[in-house]
Amino acid sequence: MMILRAATPDDLALLLHWDEQPHVVASDPTDDWHWELELSRSPDWREQLIAELDGRPIGVIQIIDPAREESHYWGDIATNLRAIDIWIGEASDLGKGYGTQMMQLALTRCFADPAVTAVLLDPLVSNIRAHRFYERLGFERIEQRRFGEDDCFVYRLSRNDWHD
Ligand SMILES: CC(C)(COP(=O)(O)OP(=O)(O)OC[C@H]1O[C@@H](n2cnc3c(N)ncnc32)[C@H](O)[C@@H]1OP(=O)(O)O)[C@@H](O)C(=O)NCCC(=O)NCCS
Repeated sequence: MMILRAATPDDLALLLHWDEQPHVVASDPTDDWHWELELSRSPDWREQLIAELDGRPIGVIQIIDPAREESHYWGDIATNLRAIDIWIGEASDLGKGYGTQMMQLALTRCFADPAVTAVLLDPLVSNIRAHRFYERLGFERIEQRRFGEDDCFVYRLSRNDWHD
């Protein structure tokens, strides 16, 4: 059984270990997540979640409100959206359907708020397997843009196109 639970300071060592895995680095080479600081606070525009499979932590999902996120990473962006980051920690857990289950739980969580109209993702242009993964979940590629040094595609799933 897959669940999402809030990340806590007790997850620090695991998150740092996952951050060093080559498939995680490849998907996000420029970011520093500042886990030590971020795990100790819970701003109301963000959820940092650990996916557990039968009690075993396997991956991370971050959900933000991009209009309210402090660094304004998404720039000028509409309200009532959510943006998701997702990764699986160990390479041995990739490609087993776990990511699909994690995204389904995350999307249910996002759309549980009736005000939320759509969910966004921003994979690197180079992350071709992630594009396929998101397209299979119903996301539509809407633009290519830079976030800092990163060349990304923006994907969007509107509530009307979401089937839980
Ligand atoms: C993207 C990710 C969360 C998908 O979870 P998953 O459990 O591996 O995926 P599922 O088994 O549910 O679905 C399989 C699909 O996942 C994607 N996938 C598998 N391995 C992947 C990898 N190393 N990197 C990116 N996507 C991968 C592919 O689309 C794959 O389908 P394919 O075999 O037809 O190529 C997971 O692969 C991952 O953590 N990848 C590395 C980090 C990453 O790229 N995160 C997204 C950043 S935007």
